[in-house]
Amino acid sequence: MSQATTVGGQYAVIEKPPVRSFALAPHMTDYEAMCQGFQWANMAKELRLPRANGVNQATICIDDHPPEVMTRAALLWHGADNSKETYTFNDLKRETNKFANVLTDLGIQKGDRVFTFLERVPEHYIALFGGLKTGAVMGPLFSAFGPEAIKDRLEDSDAKVVVTSVALKDRLDSIRQELPNLERVIVLDRGQTGYEPEAHEVLYHQAMATASEDYTVVQTDPDDYSIMHYTSGTTGKPKGAAHRHYAVVAQYATAKYILDFHPETDIYWCTADPGWVTGTSYGMFGPWSQGVTSLVYEGGFSADNWYKLMQDYKVTVWYTAPTAIRMLMKAGDEVVTNYDLSSLRHLLSVGEPLNPEAVVWGQQVFGKVFHDTWWQTETGAMHICNYPCMDVKPGSMGKPFPGVTAAVLDDEGKVLPPGEEGYLVLKPEAPSIFRTYWNKDDLYQSRFKDGWYFTGDKARVDEDGYFWFIGRADDVINTAGHLVGPFEVESALVEHPAVAEAAVIGKPDPERMEIIKAFVSLKVGFEASEALKDEIKQFVRTRLAAHAYPRELDIIDSLPKTRSGKIMRRLLKARELGLPEGDTSTLED
Ligand code: PRX
Repeated sequence: MSQATTVGGQYAVIEKPPVRSFALAPHMTDYEAMCQGFQWANMAKELRLPRANGVNQATICIDDHPPEVMTRAALLWHGADNSKETYTFNDLKRETNKFANVLTDLGIQKGDRVFTFLERVPEHYIALFGGLKTGAVMGPLFSAFGPEAIKDRLEDSDAKVVVTSVALKDRLDSIRQELPNLERVIVLDRGQTGYEPEAHEVLYHQAMATASEDYTVVQTDPDDYSIMHYTSGTTGKPKGAAHRHYAVVAQYATAKYILDFHPETDIYWCTADPGWVTGTSYGMFGPWSQGVTSLVYEGGFSADNWYKLMQDYKVTVWYTAPTAIRMLMKAGDEVVTNYDLSSLRHLLSVGEPLNPEAVVWGQQVFGKVFHDTWWQTETGAMHICNYPCMDVKPGSMGKPFPGVTAAVLDDEGKVLPPGEEGYLVLKPEAPSIFRTYWNKDDLYQSRFKDGWYFTGDKARVDEDGYFWFIGRADDVINTAGHLVGPFEVESALVEHPAVAEAAVIGKPDPERMEIIKAFVSLKVGFEASEALKDEIKQFVRTRLAAHAYPRELDIIDSLPKTRSGKIMRRLLKARELGLPEGDTSTLED
């Protein structure tokens, strides 16, 4: 691979060597040629769909592999305390059968919503696939969520059962009375003894101990819902983007051609949590539909831990995020030299723009380029990407996956020529594209116009067909790869007794892409102070989530508003960043 060099402030194209020189031939050998002949239906055929019970992600990913795959390790689990567990596909088949029986005994039927609020432990994966076997619609929640965030999601989805842990359940308990449709709570007592369940609770290990290992997976059709992830928009509370079982066709195809799996030999590590779409589409469905061994690390980020893990497990394919890469860069190149990372073959990134420096850094320290991939909760699978066989333009998200049509439109909906910035849109062709926002079908329909799906992002395409991310077209904040809706944070802020009004913006940050900055005005009788600022920040942190609290908070006399009373976030942002204030004619006097 040639070195990336800077040419007139631009990063030079990183040319890929001929495919025949790769130690392992990539599945995609010629991007253009593959675009010509690609059909999603052929991917479904390759995946042998439909199977005897229709299309069920659990059957496809866990139960129905050839015998030599069933005995392969599916999940290599490394605990935060360095304990280790290995589950073969056979093990997962047995455990998920048992869990499906546990749910069935609790009355769960096809279409019911079952949520998981668990750490990155094997039982989280078992619960999700066990649920899919019953035909339930599964909703994984990020373990850092606070009570407010949990309540919004469980209330909106009408979840009947939640699977949580002894350590996390306090946060659920504090809002359970407000959720009349939540019937039962399964409590994971991993490593805990002596926990006495309450009347509505079922102990995970107790229930599993007596559950049968035999289970006939419920018949599911391609369009049956399988999983939902809540995602943030500009207005309102988070929305549940619901996906169908057939999404697995796209997850399988992209895992094969973009993650470029070679299932017999690969050890794959996706650093995302199952609470986010990357953690399910590519922490579960992509690799396991391919029969690939996947590493799950329960612990948090530390450069040494991460490198050691990759060394010890001989990770070959690594899918991570720009903020993590920037944190590794910050930790220094010397740390890398303490580890043998020669097993790494393919590096990829998702969630935020991958800055060209990070792409080049990968090449310098690992001898491998980071391949950026662009997609969203709504798309369910990777859509615009860099491929092992394709030259990389550092800073570009790459080109649409074969079978995906992407374009950049102007305000009138006309396709813009190369070089011009506009709205990034997709033809909703991929099997993984979301099928609704739960209970908000009007909002779902509003994302489609003239046959295009509007992603909410702005982009441009260059003369060679490479796409470049410009920014969000809305006020949604991307902090370290997590989307946060300003409305959610503002709602939490105004619940603090001292806060009269609140507005929240994304403030550019070199490491996290953006941080959340809040502006609040106080109710009469409250005095601004550093202590009060800290108290308000912590208030949001405990109610919502650690990643969703304002790292910066200013107390101001009043917030700029339009004459109709709408808070002008854009004006606050312009003032904060010293940018032109733009049109302020609607500003209240
Ligand atoms: O704005 C884009 C940004 O993250 C959004 C999707 O976030 P979410 O639904 O949480 O899914 C994240 C993981 C799939 C996009 O609309 N985004 C994601 N990947 C990239 C990106 N921005 C720039 N470059 C990327 N590669």
